[in-house]
Amino acid sequence: MRLLFKGGTLVDVAGGGLYRADLLVDDGRIAAIDREIGSEGVEVLDVSGLLVAPGLIDMHVHLREPGHEHKETIASGTAAAVRGGFTAVAAMPNTEPVADSAGVVRLILERARQAGRARVYPICALTKGSCGEQLSPMEELAAAGAVAFSDDGRSVRSARVMRRAMEYAASVGRVVIAHCEDHDLSAGGAMHEGAVATRLGLHGIPAAAEEIVVARDILLAEATGCRLHIAHVSTAGSVRLVREAKARGLPVTAEAAPHHFILTDEAVLGYDTNAKVNPPLRSARDVAAVREGLADGTIDVIATDHAPHAAHEKDVEFDRAPCGIVGLETAVGLVFAELVETGLLSPAQAIAKMSLNPAAILGVEGGRLEAGGPADITVIDPARKEVIDRASFAGKSTNMPFQDREVKGIPVITMVRGKILMRDRLLTNRQVCGGGQ
Ligand code: DOR
Repeated sequence: MRLLFKGGTLVDVAGGGLYRADLLVDDGRIAAIDREIGSEGVEVLDVSGLLVAPGLIDMHVHLREPGHEHKETIASGTAAAVRGGFTAVAAMPNTEPVADSAGVVRLILERARQAGRARVYPICALTKGSCGEQLSPMEELAAAGAVAFSDDGRSVRSARVMRRAMEYAASVGRVVIAHCEDHDLSAGGAMHEGAVATRLGLHGIPAAAEEIVVARDILLAEATGCRLHIAHVSTAGSVRLVREAKARGLPVTAEAAPHHFILTDEAVLGYDTNAKVNPPLRSARDVAAVREGLADGTIDVIATDHAPHAAHEKDVEFDRAPCGIVGLETAVGLVFAELVETGLLSPAQAIAKMSLNPAAILGVEGGRLEAGGPADITVIDPARKEVIDRASFAGKSTNMPFQDREVKGIPVITMVRGKILMRDRLLTNRQVCGGGQ
C-alpha cells in the first residue's frame, strides 16, 4: 500500500532543523521525500501543521514479560508504546526469569512479533540472574538479538565483576547500560535524602549513592574501552561527571527520564507512592542540572524508564511500595510542554534524543527519515493540548504522578513498518490490548 504524508513539516534530526516536504511510504519503507509529491494512485494523509518525525525509540522500558504479566505484557507494553508515539522500545531484562538466556530472548522477540506493534529490542543481563556474580553468556545473547547489556534495577556491586563484564561486552560490540547505585549507601532509603525526607520521616537516598557508581563506571569505561551508557541520571553530580567524561573523549553517553527533569522530591509530599521511583525524585538544583545537561548535549537521550506496577502493589505504605513510574504514554507531551515550549530544546533536538541518539547508541536501524529507510514514523501535533488521564492508557498499569497535568505537543500518528498503528491517540488494532483501551 502506498501512502503519502502530505504538507507536513519534516524533522531533520541529524541536521537539527525542520523543513517542508511530502513523504511517500511504499511497502513498509520510505519510498521518497520531496517538496511536492503527486497524489495520483496513493492514499493521502493530510499532515499540514504537523511534525513528521522518525519513529521514536524508548531505550529504557520494562515490559515485565515473562513473569510479571499482571503489571504489563509485551502486547500491552507495545500498545502503550504506539499510543505514546514510540515505534520501538528496548526492554530491560529484570523479568522472571531474567533475560540472561537465548531462550528468553527468543520468547520476547516472538511475543513482540505476535503483538505486531512497536519493535522490541531485548537488553540482556550483564550477569546471570542480574545477581552481580557470574557473567551472562554475552556472545550467545548478542547472537540471539541482545542489543545491549544491563543489570538495570540494581548496580553490579563488584568493580572486579563490572570490569570483566565491560571487557566482555566490548568484545561482542555491545554497549553496557549502567544502573548506578551504591547499595550500601542507598539501603533502607525510600526517597531522596533531604529536607522533604526529614519532614516525612522517611529514610533518604543520598545523591552520592548514584554518583559514586557513575564515577566508578566511567573509570572502568576508560580502562576497558567499553561503551558505557548511564541510565536514568538524576543528580547534578552525575551530570557533571558525564560532562567531564565526554570532555575527556571517553565513550560515555547518558539518558534522563521525564520525571527527573520535571518533578522534585516535593512530589512525594502526601506519601504519593506514584512518585516513588529509583533513582528517586531529587532536589530543584538537581532538576535544573539535568535540564542543563539536556540542553548542552551532556545527556544524549530521553528515555522513560517505563516501570509498570499494579495498583494494589502501589497501594501500600510508602516504604513498602515498589519503585517505578510508567512513561510511554505521557513522554512526548511532557517533553514538548517542558523542554520545547520553554525553549530549552528545539523540536529537532528533542526528537533526536528520542530517535537518532538511542538508535545510534543501541546500533539499531531507524532514527532518521530517508528514502530507502524503514517507514517507522511518528507524527506530532505541536499545538494540540491534552490533560493526562490514566483512564485513557493502553498499558496495563497506570502508576504515574502526572494525572490531570496539562501538556502540549501530542503524538497523533504512529506508523511502524509502513502500518498506521495509532491515530488520534487511538490504537488502530485493539484486539490484544491491556487496560484502558
Ligand atoms: O523505579 C524503578 N523501577 N527503577 C528501576 O531501576 C527499576 C524499575 C522497575 O523495574 O520497577
